[in-house]
Amino acid sequence: MSIVDTVKQAVTSAVLHVMPDAPPDRLIAKHGAIGTSLPRIDGPRKVRGVARFAAEVPAEGLTYAAIVHSSVPRGRITAIETAAAEAAAGVVLVMTYKNAPRMKPPAPFMSDPRAAGSSSLAVMQDDSVHWNGEAVAVVLAETQEQADHAKSLVSVSYASEPSITSFDEAMAHWRHPDSVMGEPALLEVGDAEAALAGSAFKIDRTFHTPRHSHAAIEPHAATVWWEGESLVIHDASQLLHQERWTLAGVFGIDEKQIRLTSPFVGGGFGGKCLWTHQILGIAAAKLAGRPVRIALSRESVFRLAGGRTQTEQRVALGATREGKLTSLIHTGTVAMTAFNICPEQFTFPARHLYAAETIRLEQRVADMDMLANTFMRAPGESVGTYALEVAMDELAEALNLDPVELRARIEPEKDPTSGKAFSSRHLLEAYEKGAERFGWAQRSKTPGARREGEWLIGLGCATGTYPYYRMPGGEARIRLKRDGSAVIQMASHEMGMGTATTQVQISADRLGLPVEKVSFEYGDTELPHGTIAGGSSQTASIAAAVLAASTVLVEELIKLAGNASPLAGLSADELEARDGGLGHVEDRSKFESYESILSRAGRDEVVAEAAAPQPLEVQKYSMHSFAAQFCEVRVNAVTGETRVTRFLGSFDCGRIINPRMATSQFRGGIIMGLGLALTEETQFDERTGRIMNPSLAEYHVPVHLDVPEIEILWTDIPDPHAPAGARGIGEIGITGVGAAVANAIYNATGKRVRDLPITLDKLL
Ligand code: MOS
Repeated sequence: MSIVDTVKQAVTSAVLHVMPDAPPDRLIAKHGAIGTSLPRIDGPRKVRGVARFAAEVPAEGLTYAAIVHSSVPRGRITAIETAAAEAAAGVVLVMTYKNAPRMKPPAPFMSDPRAAGSSSLAVMQDDSVHWNGEAVAVVLAETQEQADHAKSLVSVSYASEPSITSFDEAMAHWRHPDSVMGEPALLEVGDAEAALAGSAFKIDRTFHTPRHSHAAIEPHAATVWWEGESLVIHDASQLLHQERWTLAGVFGIDEKQIRLTSPFVGGGFGGKCLWTHQILGIAAAKLAGRPVRIALSRESVFRLAGGRTQTEQRVALGATREGKLTSLIHTGTVAMTAFNICPEQFTFPARHLYAAETIRLEQRVADMDMLANTFMRAPGESVGTYALEVAMDELAEALNLDPVELRARIEPEKDPTSGKAFSSRHLLEAYEKGAERFGWAQRSKTPGARREGEWLIGLGCATGTYPYYRMPGGEARIRLKRDGSAVIQMASHEMGMGTATTQVQISADRLGLPVEKVSFEYGDTELPHGTIAGGSSQTASIAAAVLAASTVLVEELIKLAGNASPLAGLSADELEARDGGLGHVEDRSKFESYESILSRAGRDEVVAEAAAPQPLEVQKYSMHSFAAQFCEVRVNAVTGETRVTRFLGSFDCGRIINPRMATSQFRGGIIMGLGLALTEETQFDERTGRIMNPSLAEYHVPVHLDVPEIEILWTDIPDPHAPAGARGIGEIGITGVGAAVANAIYNATGKRVRDLPITLDKLL
């Protein structure tokens, strides 16, 4: 029996300090590497160009793929001419439904905890077309240029079938989704409609938000090859093990026959999951018997990788003269497809943000013939907080209350829909700090009152929020070496967020080692089971698995130390890791270094592996991160142009592990929120279902000149129920930003825009 087997058995009995009734994780009180701005560990490799991304992995005999997209939203392929392409220079083969290997449909995300499919549709298995832009042929050639040229020689004819490509038409046939991320589609506390009707003050508004496309700096790419019946995939992925399980099902092979790596990802945001291009690349590699690189063009990313879906939302608020909510209604419909499960959870913020006597939250979906939608940074919360927080600003005005003061009057004592206690909630402190620093007191109560030349100036604020998630199923391995260094191993993901760096910090403190002695290996399915880098959950998910493994490690070290050690007779609970060894929690004289324990035992290393406990903390507590977002805009009275001139985000996310990395995450989220507020919109031709702006020239994300100084503050109050006291920070930054900008624009101009993005035509 190997050491790993031995220690794996021990973990079930380990006391884990993230369990709801256990004392808080000891790291909450510890000040070592946590809280320092350790520079990005993967930074030097990236700036030297030696960090190898998925589209850069070399392979002998590599072929390059290009994709032919359908031009109808629904129908049948009646003819497909590939001879001209096949005869073109350098072409290896053209794959269509006629010659593609037989494959099973992928298991769609949310259909099984292990599933990662973007949809349940089989990929290139027959002549049917399901969205405008679906891949109908893959051309493989000796160079990318040859493939790109040859794909233009493929001609396809279609017999169109009736399709639904208009959101209005689709909404006429709305349905309730079976669940919204495991929650019911309808949630009611009392009779909110009746309470609204009887309220002294009320706001009842409808909001629209458009489609958004993923536009990470790295377009989707994979380099794949077969080794006999085994498969190697170098991908840009944020869910390695789920992708592997799903691909095993598609190709009818055992999971263990697949090795998937993804050490570097140039931005994920929810978009780097399992789409059709990986499946097509693997199928083409099988057909060709050669390695394939499928690096999507920017246009192909728009056509094959879904984004945030369209919403129509109603927010109705009833209040007393004193500013207590009598009714909170947030309902609406999102566009989806019949073949995926991603009903953009825009009602989630209203579940827990405010105290209200009655609540009604309802999510509907309307199926369209389009590319499957997916997660995109704070799916639900980013557009949900836009509608909710603009309505809240309207209510504050109706009540003649400052918007910050209104938030204080409706701050709940416990979660208003679940009744659970909050694990840690300091939203009002975040507001107070933010308002003070931003100079909120300078805001004019009267819209349109501040003007400098052509420019109208306004201030706005809004609440941001995102849940704490810790994903089940994570496993970590610690290899502690005789020289007092340690390697942490877990198939996790570094997509630019700083995961590799912050996990070194947390693990160093966990093991009582300096950061230089700790390394973190990730991004490879050969490593212990990782969890998805999604839902802002990775920090907690990895930290909990490492905590579990460290518990096992300490037990193992006690055994190895034996009776000759100063630690003899002490139990794991009496020990802490410090100064490169283990010591008694109180009695500083009782200590032995790892080096000494391992040397005496004649061991070069000790290996401990364990699974994280189930995330029971979220069953007991309502756990969320919070933000108070403040924005200053200038709107040109002549042209309607909006310039964001100042922004401040004040966050309450538990303990901040690395201030430098965290600031970057918060700022990045806010910048993405500025795009959501002002520029981003996937132009979707409702006659044909065609995306009309599949390029960054026409799909506008903020550029440097669009982004002002962004100041970031945080409470840094540890959450006693999260590992190391830290809740997630990846997605909260974008939440509330749309509303903060819209509310500032209202303050500047007196115009309420309830339809994103707020382009200048809507302000003239
Ligand atoms: Mo995030 S949208 O869960 O990558």
